[in-house]
Amino acid sequence: MSSNKKFCETTKCLLLILVTVAAVIAIICVITFSDENLREKRYEKADLKWWQTSIVYQIYPRSFQDSDGDGTGDLRGIKERLGYVSGLGVGAVWLSPIFRSPMRDFGYDVQNYTEVDPIFGNMADFDDLMKEAKAKNLRVILDFVPNHTSNDSKWFYLSERGDAKYKDYYVWNDGLNCSSGCEATGGKRPPNNWLSVFGGSAWKWSGIRQKFYYHAFLDSQPDLNLRNEEVKEELKNVMRFWLQKGVDGFRADALKFMFESKNVTQNETGLSDPFAWNEEDNHNLTTNFEDIYGILKAWRKVLEEYGSDKFLIAESYGISHDVRNKYYESGSIPFNFALIQYLNASCDAQCMKSVIKESMADLKPSYWPNYVIGNHDNHRVANKFGPETIDAFNMLLLTLPGTPTSYYGEEIGMRDTFYTYSETKDPAGLNFNETLYLEHTRDPERSPMQWNDTFNAGFSNGTPWLHVNSNYKVINVKNQESAKYSHLKVYKQLAELRQKSSFTYSNLTFVDVDDVDENPKKILSYIRTQPGQDRYLVVLNFGHLYANDVDLSKSAGSKRGEVVVNAMSNYQVNTEVDLTRITLSRGQGLVIKVK
Ligand code: GLC
Ligand code: MG
Repeated sequence: MSSNKKFCETTKCLLLILVTVAAVIAIICVITFSDENLREKRYEKADLKWWQTSIVYQIYPRSFQDSDGDGTGDLRGIKERLGYVSGLGVGAVWLSPIFRSPMRDFGYDVQNYTEVDPIFGNMADFDDLMKEAKAKNLRVILDFVPNHTSNDSKWFYLSERGDAKYKDYYVWNDGLNCSSGCEATGGKRPPNNWLSVFGGSAWKWSGIRQKFYYHAFLDSQPDLNLRNEEVKEELKNVMRFWLQKGVDGFRADALKFMFESKNVTQNETGLSDPFAWNEEDNHNLTTNFEDIYGILKAWRKVLEEYGSDKFLIAESYGISHDVRNKYYESGSIPFNFALIQYLNASCDAQCMKSVIKESMADLKPSYWPNYVIGNHDNHRVANKFGPETIDAFNMLLLTLPGTPTSYYGEEIGMRDTFYTYSETKDPAGLNFNETLYLEHTRDPERSPMQWNDTFNAGFSNGTPWLHVNSNYKVINVKNQESAKYSHLKVYKQLAELRQKSSFTYSNLTFVDVDDVDENPKKILSYIRTQPGQDRYLVVLNFGHLYANDVDLSKSAGSKRGEVVVNAMSNYQVNTEVDLTRITLSRGQGLVIKVK
């Protein structure tokens, strides 16, 4: 009896100990891995992957540097300019498509994914470029276009002809019977009202196959059938091909368009033609299908075959936070287009603060943030917000948390270039008439890089595919390298500054601005720091008026600081500044080390 009791007690005791130990372990785990604790952890550069401490610099290859005088930029041209690029302080270049293409959408219509287009050079030029980039410690990210190919691709050619292997590589449909006016389409009409991003029906009749094919973009960009296992394998092998060549990752194009409803009898409602690709909701039959995430996960596995530090950033306009989080969970980083999509010239500092806050909302610390303010599909910063704000926007982009992506030329404040209708090259513009094209053309932001004040701004000895902006004698790299103050110099200072560990993690604290004279509408201010590190105060005037004697001292917790970077203002770098009375006008900004 008594031994029995003893046994019982021992078991109880053991159980108690076990439960206690398990609970302690669980608590330790929760604390260690909780989001809050991640916020408290101090991040050193060594803890982070290269893409977490790098600026990504987007090069539009056609417009960067022409080496052979044919008027179009090329790989050798880019290689020649890598010294400049690394001198900016960026860590990676993303090249818009360089693959063989009939260039109807300037490379986003790929004919062969594993060949370099002759206009850009050849594979040896690519290998040279990679070598040079490695030597300069620059990572290389390629564009990856999985949603569609060119209709000139071998795959489409064979698919259109019903080849046994390729017939289901694209999205084909018989269409509906049509009683009149459909002679040109075999007496058929499209199966539904789905629209192309570039305008008009997303279905195109193939007289050869006697079926319609689906194209989210141009009719020369047929959508791949990503429900076909062989197509998925092909794309993975394309990734492997370039990873073997040493690329560091991909920017994946137009992912939200990868799947469409299998039920083609349904129409989409509430459509505008063409549809704004940043619309969130009403394309529920043609965008944002759950199947995307399975594909992303499979790609992440492929990337991991080549190391744990490969980068995958996804084009992702108009996605909800829920969708954004799924992109993260699937091993990619969705571009944060908040600054591109939700800011306009009338957005004051308060509005900007809420746009930034909203874009960071529900972002787990393990989801690495990123910001982007311009690219080859959007107007240049100087034109959207006014040339007086160029430095302020670079200051914002480069001091926000996470990975920034800069579009070529933004570092020198390049402007949109005007092209007449007859000069226009972009199909997104040419799909419209002479009155409407300006709303759609993307040529203005694709004008050649302005290197110096010589012929064609040093871009090409020939006739540039798009003419150089006539302001090139004033706005160019060479001028800005020699000027005492320039956009370029501010950019470089910011790029250097953001290497400091105070900027390396995702913590950002907005600073309250005294509510005098509408200051909160003018001044956007925040602190970047990490536990035990210097505190940097960023102060930017994005209002429309002068802000006089703004008191930031309470939120900043100090009255004194030292100017580290100056954007356009009268303050001098390396001088002391009184945080109780900061005066800035629109477009001026400061990074201040708080004392
Ligand atoms: C992406 C590209 C854009 C291209 C489109 C179709 O949105 O950024 O330039 O036209 O995809 O490929
Ligand atoms: Mg060339």
